[in-house]
Amino acid sequence: MPYTIFDSGFDPSAARGLHMPPAAMLELAREAAEILVRRRGELAGEDAWDGEFREGLEAQLMRDPPEEGRLATDVMARAVDEVLGLTLRVDHPRCFGFVPSSPTWPSVVADFLAAGYNVNACNWLVASGPSQLECVVIEWFRRWLGLPETAGGVLTSGGSAASLDALVAAREAAGYPERAAVYMSDQTHSAQLRAAKVAGIRPDHARIVPSDDRFRIDLDALARMMAADRAAGLNPIAVCANAGATATGVIDPLPELAEFCEAEGVWLHVDAAYGGFAVVTERGKELLDGIERADSIGLDAHKWFFQPYEVGCLMVRDLSTLEEPFEVRPTFLQDSLWGANHPNLTDRGLQTSRSARALKIWMSVETFGMAAFRESIENGMDCAARAEAYVDASPVLECLSPLSLSIVCFRVNPAGGGIADEALDELNRDVLARLFWEDPAFVSSAVVSGKFALRLCIVNYTTTWDDVRAVLEAAERFGGEALEQL
Ligand SMILES: Cc1ncc(COP(=O)(O)O)c(C=O)c1O
Repeated sequence: MPYTIFDSGFDPSAARGLHMPPAAMLELAREAAEILVRRRGELAGEDAWDGEFREGLEAQLMRDPPEEGRLATDVMARAVDEVLGLTLRVDHPRCFGFVPSSPTWPSVVADFLAAGYNVNACNWLVASGPSQLECVVIEWFRRWLGLPETAGGVLTSGGSAASLDALVAAREAAGYPERAAVYMSDQTHSAQLRAAKVAGIRPDHARIVPSDDRFRIDLDALARMMAADRAAGLNPIAVCANAGATATGVIDPLPELAEFCEAEGVWLHVDAAYGGFAVVTERGKELLDGIERADSIGLDAHKWFFQPYEVGCLMVRDLSTLEEPFEVRPTFLQDSLWGANHPNLTDRGLQTSRSARALKIWMSVETFGMAAFRESIENGMDCAARAEAYVDASPVLECLSPLSLSIVCFRVNPAGGGIADEALDELNRDVLARLFWEDPAFVSSAVVSGKFALRLCIVNYTTTWDDVRAVLEAAERFGGEALEQL
């Protein structure tokens, strides 16, 4: 249903250049807020996905930019009807694909405010308030993760940017060696591989270590591989560990990896983009034990910390290891140097101009309090545990990886069915397709031990057990029907 927006909005014929009168500004903003609040109320009753093929969209949207403006409310209505709705609704309570994101309302409003103030959180001179707030949020993260007081960090566009900055810091800490090599398991997110590439690590020196039968990095294989590489003249600079791998949610053995990396003199980066914020809960803290020994940690608040895109974070154990590689001081920015106690956050990563990402985290945490955040993260873990129990009890479904954090990988495979894996892959692909086209939920797939898996990632604070059960029941139903066709 297209949204109807009354068209008493800003009339461009009354415009002077790019100015808009205050009444029209207010009306446009109010209507935008109404659209968003209404969308939230209606979301659960809609499908979690909508999209179109390129041809139709190209015909609809590819027009020359107009010479004269149009009614602002009409333009916004088009954006809503023709563009914004055609997405995966990552905040839908039944969106379980990839790693969803369900922002709180104060976080959304914070992004609006930050854009309205047009904050450039690059340095202390330009943005002392937002810089201090970022220091506060980084300090919260440091305490939650149990990092020492020497630690610090920077908010980034996401987990990929955090990975890149981490490998640049690792390379610098290692003294910029020739023939540098990095190590990661076969469960590691592709962002680490891309980061290695961008950081100048040759693709064949980004070494993929096999994982064990619980999908954790095989420590013996890692040690063997690194020793052989050293003997062949490579210079290992970093191990990238998983603290919530995307496909299975697996957490690598962090204490053992920290021990190993320390002995080898190699940087330990922990990719906690999906799983890291579980650390604010008792259960998550236990599962992530050892994360506090990392040299760097990548986090994504736009995943399991209920923020709108984009906000990730790179934390480093020793802040100087981040400032050394990134600090560049051109004379045209000399006015921004207020001394060591006034950090210029631009000196901790790639970006010069930066949005005020801390504002949304701070506003939402201050508004709801940490108890609500903890409860919402626990909800994901609870629903995932119930989903695993449901799958285990189902005569039709089978778990493909042990539950880790809030990810469940399973497939249709009736006990004692004796169906070959290739046939099961085919059948489960069909189940996924039927879930996609016929069910309001959105589920994505993974390959687990070479088997096609249906995968649920439960990180939305509005998701209830009924939402999860409904998609499991649908998988059982579609699976049962597919089995009858065999
Ligand atoms: C474990 C993990 N690492 C890194 C990333 C990349 O993060 P971003 O998409 O924020 O760049 C993801 C994204 O899903 C992820 O799940």
